[in-house]
Order: sequence, then structure tokens, then C-alpha cells
Amino acid sequence: MAEPLRVVVTGAAGQIAYSLLYMIAKGDVFGPDQPLILHLLDIPVMMGVLEGVVMELADCALPLLRDVIPTDDPVVAFTDVSSAFLVGAMPRKQGMERKDLLAANVKIFKVQGEALDKYAKKDVKVLVVGNPANTNALICSKYAPSIPKENFSAMTRLDQNRAQAQIAAKLNVPVGTVSNVIIWGNHSSTQYPDASHAVIDKNGNIEKAVDAIGNEQWLRETFLATVQKRGAAVIAARKMSSAMSAAKAASDHMRDWFLGTKSGKFVSMGVISAGAYGVPKDVIFSFPVIIENRKWKVVEGLPIDDFSRSMLDATGKELCEEREEALQIIQA
Ligand code: NAD
Ligand code: LMR
Repeated sequence: MAEPLRVVVTGAAGQIAYSLLYMIAKGDVFGPDQPLILHLLDIPVMMGVLEGVVMELADCALPLLRDVIPTDDPVVAFTDVSSAFLVGAMPRKQGMERKDLLAANVKIFKVQGEALDKYAKKDVKVLVVGNPANTNALICSKYAPSIPKENFSAMTRLDQNRAQAQIAAKLNVPVGTVSNVIIWGNHSSTQYPDASHAVIDKNGNIEKAVDAIGNEQWLRETFLATVQKRGAAVIAARKMSSAMSAAKAASDHMRDWFLGTKSGKFVSMGVISAGAYGVPKDVIFSFPVIIENRKWKVVEGLPIDDFSRSMLDATGKELCEEREEALQIIQA
């Protein structure tokens, strides 16, 4: 069996981590043959709660879980890790946009970037979940100059999963038959959920989702708005932000990064932009990617019509504005 892989989860005493830790520890992310050592970081006041999480992980009797290291010390948390789930951050409340969290959260990602830079493996794969996820990931990467920028990502997989679920419900087909829906841009209400390249697999017969749906207005209005505002709808109903579905999405994202995407399928990830599709450079922008040998590559050459162009421009503009605001907060 392989050597144990060290994986850190921050915000380990919080809502998302409560679902995510079990998914990781039972092998959903790194596969059924990969033993794990989990590093669990939270803030000092949460150490008592974290001890309870550690007890529960032990009580799950999971064969792949070789050790669990709870800590409030970033040095301990980030030393020798190969995979980092950066979840720990304040969630938004009803009526807030995710970018309203910048002031509260962005400095966490500066500190954790510095710690990753010093103590993590140089090939560590970092997934930022804490909001606003794209801009936090950019700042984290900026403060970890010895780690390739390509190793930092932000989570838009929850938006992708939501989009697939909406299309499956509209067509009354199993969600697993829907693929290649794209989330472009920011994990915010300017994101562009794009079904124009999505397909439905009907027992080997591949049909374009737009043809199966046959209603462009639904795609550009109801579908778009439902996915863009789904996080807010969950908060309105639960009085807390999404947790189980966020954990599942984080697990999907890191699994595809480590184990690769299936032939002909692409997934959406917030990654450093080199300007593909004419969007701004040097922001963390969600693109369709394929992954092989733990390296992502943006899917090239997809046609972009006028409607898509305006959506990409709007979300790119917001990311540039967030980047400026984040840098001002950090420098203040
Ligand atoms: P939560 O409040 O339940 O848990 C957050 C945990 O992080 C708490 O235990 C807190 O003590 C801890 N924490 C705070 N500062 C920390 C630090 N500096 N180091 C380590 N731990 C720290 O929140 P949650 O519901 O788990 O959500 C976490 C974050 O994920 C929020 O910012 C939320 O908005 C975001 N989120 C993102 C997505 C996405 O799709 N990208 C989806 C859902 C939630
Ligand atoms: C989500 O999309 O559910 C999360 O980003 C939480 C939120 O604030 O909406």
C-alpha cells in the first residue's frame, strides 16, 4: 500500500468540515488504496469542539485513516501536506454578497499562503472554499511564491453540481447523465452558468442539452438566475450557508484534480487566468478544464456568442474589482 498522504482541512470544527472530513477519510477523494493523515486546523477557541470531531473520526473506524492531528498552529497544520482544503473563514448571512466577506476573511488567506509557502510540499494542491473563494485563492497564491500558481484553485464545483441538477430536473433524467455544464468566472452572483456545451447521455446516445430542453429563454433566465442565487436561497431556508453540498463539491473537485477527469468530460475550477477566452489575466477565474497527471488544462476553442461574451466580461470585471479591494485591505 502507498505511503500515507498528508491532507489539511482548515475550519475543521465548522459546518462544511463536519461532512467533508468523513468523505475524505473514507476514501472518496484520494481513492480506496490511499492511506491518509489528516491535519485539522481551527482557531484556539474551537479546540474543544475539534476534539469532539477527532473522537468521532476515531469512532468511524475508517481503515485508510492512519492519524489525525488537531491543531491551532498553522506550522503544524501545513507541514508536509500534499493537499489543502482551505475552508476556515466566516460564512455570509442573509442579505450579504460573498464579496462583503473580503474584509473579514482575506487576511486569513495571506497568513495561510505564507504558511503553505514555508511548510507544505511544493506540489501541494490547494482548494480555497472560504468566501469570496476566487479572490481569497489569488491572495493565498500571492503569498506563497515558491509554489506554482497553477496549484491554487477556488471552488465553483458546487455551482456546477447545482447547474447539472437543475438541468436533470428540467428534463426529468438522472443527474449522472448530464455533463459538460460550465461555470465561468467568479463564485458570486455574476458567475455565468453556461449549458451551451452540456450533453445528456441517454444510454450511449449523446444529445445536446440545449436541444433536449428546446427553450433558450429558460436557459438564459430561470436556469441562470437559479444557479447564480442558489447559495442565497439555501441561506434563506437554512439560516446557515450550504454545508453538505459544499463538502460534496470540495470532494469532487479535489478527487478530479488527483485522479483526473473522464475522457470527453470537463469540469469547472477557479484557476489562475492567463487570459483565455479574452478574460482578464491574473485573477482566479472559473474555466472548463480537463485534468491529467494532476495538471489541469483549460478547454480551448469553445465558441462564445454575444450573450456569453457579455456574461464573461461582467464576471471578469467583478474579479478585477475584488482583486483591487483585497490588496487595499491587506496593505491597510
Ligand atoms: P463555519 O462558520 O461553520 O466554519 C468555519 C470554521 O472556520 C469555524 O470553525 C471557524 O472557527 C474556522 N476558522 C475561522 N478562522 C480560521 C482560521 N484563521 N484558521 C482556521 N480556521 C478558522 O462555516 P462553514 O459553513 O464551514 O463555511 C466556511 C466557508 O466556506 C465560508 O466562508 C463560506 O462562505 C464558504 N463556502 C464556500 C462555498 C463555495 O462554493 N466556494 C460553499 C459553501 C460555503
Ligand atoms: C454557496 O454557494 O452556497 C456558498 O458560497 C455559501 C454562500 O454564501 O452562498
